[in-house]
Amino acid sequence: MEKILEKALSMRQNSHAPHSHFKVGAALLTSSGIIIGGCNVESDVYGLTMCAERNAIFAAFAQGYRNFQAIAVATTTQGTPCGSCRQIIAELCGNIMIYTTDLAKNIRTYQAYELLPHHFTLNKNLPIHEKMHEISI
Ligand code: THU
Repeated sequence: MEKILEKALSMRQNSHAPHSHFKVGAALLTSSGIIIGGCNVESDVYGLTMCAERNAIFAAFAQGYRNFQAIAVATTTQGTPCGSCRQIIAELCGNIMIYTTDLAKNIRTYQAYELLPHHFTLNKNLPIHEKMHEISI
């Protein structure tokens, strides 16, 4: 865990956040132990801004990785991933561990399906956890 926390913290240096001045770094750990970083990149067209988490996940996919263990997110506030990132994490990475840290390395630990139960999917063959929710409703 220490290595991806360090990577997430260092990725904040690459953040491009001229509008919010809120730097976010992310680090995604593949099943094979490779770490892929991401940072937030803001646009003058504010809505085109991309979060650190999604940049890390999309970069990993572009490099051919498909199986993941964990993602770390570093901010000044220990912030958790936004709703859009929760969808992408749950959908593309599965129920991985999510670590949030601030600059003093105060860490909180979550799981993807805890932060976003019932994520959207086009697949009718729902993951087991979603079938269980269906049955209990
Ligand atoms: N941001 C992220 O990078 N990840 C999140 O989960 C939430 C927000 C970025 C987007 C924007 O550049 C800045 O933080 C302020 O919203």
